[in-house]
Amino acid sequence: MTAQAIQQPSAILRIDHLKKTFGTTKVLEDINIDMPPGGFLVLVGPSGCGKSTLLNCIAGLEETSAGHIHIDGREVTELPPRERDIAMVFQSYALYPTMTVRENIAFGMKVRRIAKDVQTEKVDKVAKLLKIEQLLHRKPSQLSGGQRQRVAMGRALVRDPALFLFDEPLSNLDAKLRVEMRAEIKQLHEKTGASFVYVTHDQVEAMTMGSQIAVLNNGYLQQLGTPDEIYNKPANIFVASFMGSPPMNILSATYGKDEQGCYVEVNTGAPHKLYSAHFASANLLPNTPVKLGIRPEAFEEVEAAQATLSLNLKLVEITGADTYAVLDFGDEKATARLGVPFAHSAGDTIHLHIDPKQMMLFDAESEQRLTS
Ligand SMILES: Nc1ncnc2c1ncn2[C@@H]1O[C@H](COP(=O)(O)OP(=O)(O)OP(=O)(O)O)[C@@H](O)[C@H]1O
Ligand SMILES: [Mg+2]
Repeated sequence: MTAQAIQQPSAILRIDHLKKTFGTTKVLEDINIDMPPGGFLVLVGPSGCGKSTLLNCIAGLEETSAGHIHIDGREVTELPPRERDIAMVFQSYALYPTMTVRENIAFGMKVRRIAKDVQTEKVDKVAKLLKIEQLLHRKPSQLSGGQRQRVAMGRALVRDPALFLFDEPLSNLDAKLRVEMRAEIKQLHEKTGASFVYVTHDQVEAMTMGSQIAVLNNGYLQQLGTPDEIYNKPANIFVASFMGSPPMNILSATYGKDEQGCYVEVNTGAPHKLYSAHFASANLLPNTPVKLGIRPEAFEEVEAAQATLSLNLKLVEITGADTYAVLDFGDEKATARLGVPFAHSAGDTIHLHIDPKQMMLFDAESEQRLTS
């Protein structure tokens, strides 16, 4: 049996132990990803973390330094881009300015000498899907940013490849159009049933679009999971802080156990114990230093008698739908997302409850999540 035959067909994209160095600079380290057919994989992480490099390795635009890439069960690691059965949409649309929209979309087919009537049929079908039928005779200069973006996608869609690759395709659009196009790309994915790999540095885009999210930092894959896993079971402090806005609060704490149960002690000006049965899953010795993670939405304002803790308010920010209350934790601070109207101002004491199940612990050194 050949290696190709052993390859399980269950993955449309499989990346094994991929590494990439530019000279002596390590850009990607031991990346392993398995993506099921019809999936929407988002590669997300801060600027410079290696997202585009990874996408370019998948596309064959960059050579890999080590590891293997399979697309649709076929090893493509050494193949040039045109033999990989992929289509790519970049951040800059790079449409041909002298060609009409129809000619732009059909260009790849023309080069491959595909019959004229097939070209026409495919362009019409894709134009309908993208709702740009009325624009086919126009030149790119006569289109809005969002319309150009759709034409660029049309060019990829007529290819009907095993895998679509997108590198920040919405970053040239204004905020409102981004949100609209985000929903459209997601619908397009659902309608076509195609497999998408999508690069973004925007965590909201990642959460709303992806069926699978790969969080990268410094060239390392931090976590690969569903949006729910990434948000509710972050592998480490990096993932916990990257996903969510405002980000998860991370506070220094000490683990302990007494007759009331497992707790962590935080500093709220004076030492204060926060109890949760869920902390037992961290399996720690008493007095272990830890990092406590609390999402802003885990706080709830309550009457003094029901309070888990009472804190001094450092700052109040009203965003319209929410109030962000910045809370005084001694040398540290945390942000709570609370409702409107909000009756307090900076300097007041506020009574809060934190759902015990919504607090998570991380190792103070390795920053890996400890609680289940
Ligand atoms: N040809 C190159 N030679 C040397 N270093 C490179 C080269 N291309 C990229 N890099 C480096 O590799 C790292 C990853 O770059 P990459 O473009 O993949 O980041 P990114 O995650 O896509 O960032 P952004 O969100 O800014 O697009 C960066 O530190 C970058 O400087
Ligand atoms: Mg990039």
